[in-house]
Amino acid sequence: MSLPSPQFNSLGTLQHFLTLDGLDKATLTSIMDTAENFTQVGDRVIKNVPLLRGKTVANLFFENSTRTRTAFELAAKRLSADLLNVDLVTSSTTKGESLLDTLRVLESLQCDMFIVRHGESGAADFIARHVKPTVNVVNGGDGQASHPTQGMLDMFTIRQHKGAFEPLCVVIIGDIRHSRVARSGIAALNTLGAGEIRVVGPRTLMPTNVESLGVTWYSDVDVALKDADVIMGLRLQTERMSGITVPSSREFFSTYGLTRERLSLAKSDAIVMHPGPTNRGVEIAADVADGPQSVILDQVTNGLAVRMAVMSTIMGNAEPLREASSQDASEGVNRG
Ligand code: CP
Repeated sequence: MSLPSPQFNSLGTLQHFLTLDGLDKATLTSIMDTAENFTQVGDRVIKNVPLLRGKTVANLFFENSTRTRTAFELAAKRLSADLLNVDLVTSSTTKGESLLDTLRVLESLQCDMFIVRHGESGAADFIARHVKPTVNVVNGGDGQASHPTQGMLDMFTIRQHKGAFEPLCVVIIGDIRHSRVARSGIAALNTLGAGEIRVVGPRTLMPTNVESLGVTWYSDVDVALKDADVIMGLRLQTERMSGITVPSSREFFSTYGLTRERLSLAKSDAIVMHPGPTNRGVEIAADVADGPQSVILDQVTNGLAVRMAVMSTIMGNAEPLREASSQDASEGVNRG
């Protein structure tokens, strides 16, 4: 039997941000509305707000990242937090120090929030179960399980360009099986009521029982793209592949790559998304990635506001301290 998610504290408040699974439409909408306000802050001369003043945020990236790590760093700074970018390559984890001992060190330095990226699915959940009750954990991508802030910035970008989710046909192309971005995006699209979600790619790159995710699988990209409003390309996550047969990069581009010719099969106002990093000439043609329908750099921009929204939403939502017992009171326990 699986344990309940530690995402909510005992009052039902969102303390950690680990997965979009189980978050309701009101919560997702509230995060997008908060992000909308932060995009306006970004237009001001002074872009900082004091919401996290006096708090310390630690970026713990056990796996490489450009967009997520830098957006969280900038988000923490815009919210006036102190930021630690823990350099794990030069940290004592290379001398065998365990993950939990590393966390204890950072907790002893009074860190209030951990942003975690890790190659193992479930790593952020594990950390959330082991931190002090006053600490918040945000999942910056764990294995192939979840990338919830990417999912939220993708939803925010879709809403920005398309408005309502209900009429939309969303097509996700490529390596769904190894993609935490696809899992988080599909969960959010279903919660927000997207009209139709299609996934397309070879069966070897689909999760088992892919239809149970609430999507329809297509093997033919030309068929899948018909009437699409939103098209999302995904990178082939070769670093997570073992023991499965996948097409070569050249074969993949020829069979599934998003070219201008294929894009013309979708609606004329369809938007093209990609979480990055992109491999041009593999899952997407350069002239599509850079073309007028591409919103790939909007996704990057929106990642900042969405991360500010997530961090400010959960910060301070600690597990409530237990009532002081009469014995504690008589001993004059100082809870600080
Ligand atoms: N989309 C995304 O997670 O990109 P990075 O790996 O560069 O953070």
